[in-house]
Amino acid sequence: MPKKGFLITYTLIHTIHIFSVFIYGGFLFIDILFLSKMQQGLSGDEYAKAREAIMVHVRKVVPYALMVAVASGLYMFTQIFGKIENNTLSYFQTLLSIKAFFGLWLGVRGINQKLFKINPWVFKSHFFPFSLVVIIILLSQFMYL
Ligand code: HEM
Repeated sequence: MPKKGFLITYTLIHTIHIFSVFIYGGFLFIDILFLSKMQQGLSGDEYAKAREAIMVHVRKVVPYALMVAVASGLYMFTQIFGKIENNTLSYFQTLLSIKAFFGLWLGVRGINQKLFKINPWVFKSHFFPFSLVVIIILLSQFMYL
């Protein structure tokens, strides 16, 4: 039975992970499902203005939520990955590794954009990170089967 102190720390970090993922992924869902649809009722100029009015606030919060998600995820990964037996990854370890890989990919991409202003492709929409988040959420649930 793990020590109570560890359980409290783990639960706290897990909760932080869920909230940060909620903020980061939540924005992507809102953007893909609703914000991009504003184009249907607004002119190009109006849409650009309306979007920018939202994005000034998004930029202050969402990239940092992604960094918190990656940091908390890395901590949990080191705690629950477990030993590799017989040189083979278990089902859980395999799915967790794929999930962590995609999460880190998003993290590296986000940190590059936010802190180093490196933007290898001009990202036209958030469809790619949105798709990865959907896959990551599915993996985070099915890894426990
Ligand atoms: C944007 C990126 C990420 C998203 C959207 C995401 C999403 C999630 C979600 C939805 C859960 C399930 C929480 C639950 O059901 O209680 C989870 C758990 C987890 N995540 Fe992430 N995650 C991300 C990044 C990462 C990274 C980079 C790592 C590790 C390097 C990581 C490691 C973990 C671990 C180990 C768990 C299992 C926690 C547990 O059940 O005790 N995550 N993540």
